[in-house]
Amino acid sequence: MNVKGLEYILIETTDLSKWEDYGLNVCGFMKNETASNSEQIAFKIDESPFRFLVTKGNSERYLAGGFLLEDESAVAAAQQELHNHGVECVELDENHKAARKISGGFTFQDPAGNTLEFIYGREQDTSSFVSSQNISGFVTQGLGFGHVVFATLNIEETHNFYTEVLGFGDSDIMDLQMSPNPEDPPMRLYFMHCDNPRHHTVAFMQAPTPPSGLIHTMVEVQKVDEVGHALDRALKKDIHISSSMGRHVNDGMLSFYMQTPSGFDLEYGCEGIQPNWESFETTHSSLPSHWGHKFTPPPAE
Ligand SMILES: [Fe+2]
Repeated sequence: MNVKGLEYILIETTDLSKWEDYGLNVCGFMKNETASNSEQIAFKIDESPFRFLVTKGNSERYLAGGFLLEDESAVAAAQQELHNHGVECVELDENHKAARKISGGFTFQDPAGNTLEFIYGREQDTSSFVSSQNISGFVTQGLGFGHVVFATLNIEETHNFYTEVLGFGDSDIMDLQMSPNPEDPPMRLYFMHCDNPRHHTVAFMQAPTPPSGLIHTMVEVQKVDEVGHALDRALKKDIHISSSMGRHVNDGMLSFYMQTPSGFDLEYGCEGIQPNWESFETTHSSLPSHWGHKFTPPPAE
């Protein structure tokens, strides 16, 4: 299987107005007015009709991630292969296709229980992206929009599924010593790329799955000042800053993390490396960051 990139994520929220304020006034996204209504908000960050579709519902959670494959035959072959591995795949119906602005695809669950959609024929949006906060542009060209990081205790089976069935490659394997006792086993993280130069499109950490279903998703801007301004806007709005600014070891990203209205975090960064996978060798890290990235849990409610 050959996944081209992370195309969009679907989110459920109980409070659309909070997301609208967050997406526009903190993140600097653009609202796609024609794809939004009283039940959903579509946030556009580039030439795609949207990268985040936030739908009104009963919970705060990640619903699904849409991954782009080359074409109809690639999607059909992927579906057959998953079926051969005993994975149940469900075709997206006409309503689903219209909402996602795609020609077709199917949905399935990975061994950690995350819902993924494999799709083809995403519509392009001819209206140009104009940031609500003067951001010059998000770094997405040929890279997918960003990455998603999940948590599961079923990490080895899940990692094998992504590398051996879905065709992802290992970018970095991290072992983090979380306990002060060096005898305790470290926490394992797998960072994986698909068929584009983004360092990782999907990552897994060995931890219980959070109620929102997602640890974080990431968007990348072109300038460090745009990261700084986003941090200022988040602070002004009293958004919980989950992690201070820092520089990651494995993908070189300079970023901070903030909580979204749906509970998971958004990593907001710049300067991520874009390896050439032909010559790249999987790295093994024991530290997440060169400096910074001090994580603070949200205050108890
Ligand atoms: Fe990240």
